[in-house]
Amino acid sequence: MSHGVKSIGIIGAGQMGGGITQVAATAGIDAVVYDSSTDQLKKCEALHQKLLNRAVEKERMTQAEADAALGRISYANSLDALSGSDWVVEAIIEDLGIKSDLFKKLAAMLPNDNVVLASNTSSISITALAASAGDAAHRVVGMHFFNPVPIMKLVEVIKGIQTSDDVVDRTVALAEAMGKTPLKANDRAGFVSNRVLMPLINEAFYAWMEGVAEPEAIDGIMKLGCNHPMGPLRLADFIGLDTCEHIMNVLHRELGSDKYAPCPLLKQLVSAGRLGDKTKRGVYDYSN
Ligand code: CAA
Repeated sequence: MSHGVKSIGIIGAGQMGGGITQVAATAGIDAVVYDSSTDQLKKCEALHQKLLNRAVEKERMTQAEADAALGRISYANSLDALSGSDWVVEAIIEDLGIKSDLFKKLAAMLPNDNVVLASNTSSISITALAASAGDAAHRVVGMHFFNPVPIMKLVEVIKGIQTSDDVVDRTVALAEAMGKTPLKANDRAGFVSNRVLMPLINEAFYAWMEGVAEPEAIDGIMKLGCNHPMGPLRLADFIGLDTCEHIMNVLHRELGSDKYAPCPLLKQLVSAGRLGDKTKRGVYDYSN
């Protein structure tokens, strides 16, 4: 099946939105990335230049290919710039109210029935987001990328109750065209990835809190013993401790079992503002 996408709009120029933009442009699709912050757009553009230069240095692409990819990206400070897109992916803050407002706006702004409204959410119900899109509910789908987006192969494709089979098939086709491996999951809290990953990370915090071992040993054991590229506590810093706590809260609330309650030590570090890489301190100290 062909995805038929010529121009993709990405909402949010953070780590995920920036990565999705780069991967789309590299795959030959025109990409417009929108953010309300011009600072964030500048950072995003600088990162694209750096990563594409690096790809040329490493001979993963030619200079002409990197230039062409950069040439396909527009950085927009107004959501209206996405009105010509035939696909959008939102990658904004994980807040149901804010995302629902956005989907309502997108449904009105992009009335063409062929335009897909995708969310990169890691934990918010696709069914709930689709409900806020009214008549466009069947065009809302989860397209969950993984960080760092240019490196990670997976796109988790989430079908909400209202999502049409055609939209799911086109999402699979687009993800493949972007060089990714799409795998489907139904719309249950945490989908598959975070249903399995977050309890692992949470358990590592319990192991630390209960003195089973120090963080370096917990991470070392999981890296060397299970061949994980990063230990679970290092990965928590990479993802953001606030995000981990948020996803555990979603699992706890939606699935109703106390086995998903966020570890008190994880909550405490979040309260202290130790959120991981982004604040230069989480489980580990990155100030140097
Ligand atoms: N953006 C782009 N490229 C990046 C990058 C980034 N943020 N971070 C690292 N890379 C690139 C490096 O530049 C390097 O490329 P080169 O070949 O050009 O040098 C390559 O990745 C390997 O990097 P490193 O050699 O520095 O380090 P590494 O071998 O340890 O790999 C890693 C880094 C890819 C991040 C690896 O540690 C890893 O796979 N970690 C686990 C990541 C993971 O689990 N991600 C999922 C998080 S969960 C999520 O995203 C979803 C959610 O809902 C919470």
